[in-house]
Amino acid sequence: MHQLSKDGKLKNLLTIEGLKKEHIIEILDKAEGFFTPDSGEIIQTNHLQNKTVANLFFEPSTRTRSTFELAAKKLGASVLNLDISHSSTSKGESLRDTVRNLQAMQCQLFVIRHHTSGACHFIAEQIDPKVAIINAGDGCHAHPTQALLDMFTIRKHRQDFQKLSVAIVGDILHSRVARSQIHALHILRAGEIRVIGPKTLLPAQVEKLGVHVFHDLHQGLKGVDVIMMLRLQTERMQKGLLPQGNAYYRQYGLTTETLSLANPNALIIHPGPINRGVEIQSEIADSPNAVILDQVTNGIAVRMAVMSLLMNNANKGSL
Ligand code: CP
Repeated sequence: MHQLSKDGKLKNLLTIEGLKKEHIIEILDKAEGFFTPDSGEIIQTNHLQNKTVANLFFEPSTRTRSTFELAAKKLGASVLNLDISHSSTSKGESLRDTVRNLQAMQCQLFVIRHHTSGACHFIAEQIDPKVAIINAGDGCHAHPTQALLDMFTIRKHRQDFQKLSVAIVGDILHSRVARSQIHALHILRAGEIRVIGPKTLLPAQVEKLGVHVFHDLHQGLKGVDVIMMLRLQTERMQKGLLPQGNAYYRQYGLTTETLSLANPNALIIHPGPINRGVEIQSEIADSPNAVILDQVTNGIAVRMAVMSLLMNNANKGSL
């Protein structure tokens, strides 16, 4: 595994699986330190001065790509955003060769989003150990910084994970976010983790992930403290997985009615992009307990924490 050094330090961030509670808490605490206590603004630092961060996004992104760029700049790094559609990928260059060439341009930290599950692990195995890789979402596999910023947001608003019943709702089957969230919630010892969705959108034997499974939204939302909504990832779906028309919204949409089944003041999070009227009622997405935009802001600080930690560990020569 190319994520932890022999002395247990984080050298790449590829997945939440295999991390210890201490790793996650270290990142969340570090991220908290990047906010000013009075105004809640994110500070400018020089932690990554003289470093270059390369953003390689082989799939579209608004939040992850932009917040990684902002985070790198807040740490004083230079940022190279490779425009994949105009890069030599279109001439047949492999991901490995692209990364090796960018490394020759003295990029030290690579943020990679790729449609293939396992792409970041593959690169981490192949590449010079002096550079660090961050998985910004690979296929249906993992999106570790999303899960970390979600945990940061839950901790900020609800503190004690052990007291929380958390429901993840929607297209779990295609969701790298859900997989990473489930691992993170287990590591932080959340009181209960539920997954709610139609059979066609839940992975086979999902209960083996240590979650309670519900196919009925009304049953699943009863008494939960945190609701993690997911978008339908139609770009990864085969035909026939979804009910026709707006039947999905009627059965699985978070609305004023279905939300009333959860505990009062249940926290609502969503990784984005949100599809109003598909998985969530527009008014609910904009309601005070929906902290969806706060998640985005927190993503800057959490990504700063991850990049700063990885470069710090690399400088100390963790092998
Ligand atoms: N949450 C998330 O990954 O959003 P983007 O696809 O916009 O980066």
